[in-house]
Amino acid sequence: MQISMGILRGISVSFLAFLVCVCTIYEPCVQAWSKEGHAMTCKIAQELLEPEAKHAVQMLLPDYVNGDLSALCVWPDQVRHWYKYRWTSPLHFIDTPDQACNFKYQRDCHDPHGVKDMCVAGAIQNFTNQLSHYRHGTSDRRHNMTEALLFLSHFMGDIHQPMHVGFTSDEGGNTIDLRWFRHKSNLHHVWDREIILTAAADYYGKDINLLQQDIEANFTHGIWSSDLASWRDCADLSSCVNKYAAESINLACKWGYKDVESGDTLSDDYFNSRLPIVMRRIAQGGVRLAMILNRILGVEHEDSIAAT
Ligand SMILES: *[C@@H]1O[C@H](CO)[C@@H](O)[C@H](O)[C@H]1NC(C)=O
Ligand SMILES: *[C@@H]1O[C@H](CO)[C@@H](O)[C@H](O)[C@H]1NC(C)=O
Ligand SMILES: *[C@@H]1O[C@H](CO)[C@@H](O)[C@H](O)[C@H]1NC(C)=O
Ligand SMILES: [Zn+2]
Repeated sequence: MQISMGILRGISVSFLAFLVCVCTIYEPCVQAWSKEGHAMTCKIAQELLEPEAKHAVQMLLPDYVNGDLSALCVWPDQVRHWYKYRWTSPLHFIDTPDQACNFKYQRDCHDPHGVKDMCVAGAIQNFTNQLSHYRHGTSDRRHNMTEALLFLSHFMGDIHQPMHVGFTSDEGGNTIDLRWFRHKSNLHHVWDREIILTAAADYYGKDINLLQQDIEANFTHGIWSSDLASWRDCADLSSCVNKYAAESINLACKWGYKDVESGDTLSDDYFNSRLPIVMRRIAQGGVRLAMILNRILGVEHEDSIAAT
C-alpha cells in the first residue's frame, strides 16, 4: 500500500513537472498584451471613469484588489487553459485570411471549428451586453457580473493589440520565430510585450507607472489630445467593435508583418518605428474601455450602446 502510494505520488509529481514545462513552453503563444499592456489599458480606463461607473466597478471587484481593476485585467489569460474556462480561449483573438488585410465579422468571427461569434469582437459585445443589465438589477443569474467585467476589460485590450487580429496560417505572428535584439522571440510576442519592455527599460528606468503616465499626458495635453473625441466616438457598439478590429489588422499589415520574415533579427529600426503605434493602441484601448463602462454602468444616457 505504501509502495503504491509512493508510486502514485511519483507519478503525480512528474505529471505536475510535465504540466509546468508545457505551460512554460507555450507561455509566449498564449499571452495577450503582456500583463504590463493589460494593466496599463485598465489603469487608464479606471482613471477616466465617472463616479457612478467607478462605484459599480468597485462593487464588482473582489475585496482583495482594493478597488484596483488593473490587478485582475490579466485574469482571463491565466484561466483560459483551465477546464472550466477552455471555451474562452478563442475569444482572445481573430484570425483573418492571409494577406487580406481586412476584417469581416461574418467571415472571420468564429472559433477554429466555425462556431459563430466566438472571437474577440463577438466576446466584447457579449460581455458588454451581460454587464449592461447590472445597473437595472436584471442580470441573468447564470452570468457572473464580476467575470463579465474582467472579460470585457481584458478583451478591449486584446482587440487593440494589432497582432491579435492577424493572419490565420501564422497564428497572428506566433509561428514567426525571430530575434528581438539578442534574444529569441516571435513576432506576436514582440507586439505583446517586447516593445513595451524595451521602451520601459530605455526611457523610463523600467518603471511601467512612468510609462503609463507619459501615455496619459499625451492624450490629456500632448500629441493625441485632439484625437481623444474621435477615439471615444461610438454610436453603435457592434460597428465600433468591428472598427477596432479593422484598425488592428490594418496596423498588423502596415507595421507588424511589414518587412519581417522568420529568422530575422529585429532591433532599433523596428523598435523606433513601431513604438508610437503600440503606445497609441494602449491609449485607445483604455479610453474606449472607459467609454463603454461609463455608458453601461454610469448614469443613464440616451445613447446607450448595448443591445438589450
Ligand atoms: C457569452 O458568454 C456566455 C457565458 O457568459 C458564453 O456561454 C458564450 O459562449 C459567450 N459568447 C461569446 C461570443 O463570447
Ligand atoms: C464570480 O466569479 C469570480 C471569479 O471567478 C468568483 O470568485 C466568484 O465567486 C463568482 N461569483 C459568484 C456569485 O459565483
Ligand atoms: C509622448 O509624446 C512625446 C512627444 O511627441 C513622445 O516623445 C513620447 O514618446 C510619447 N510617449 C508615449 C508613451 O507615447
Ligand atoms: Zn487575451
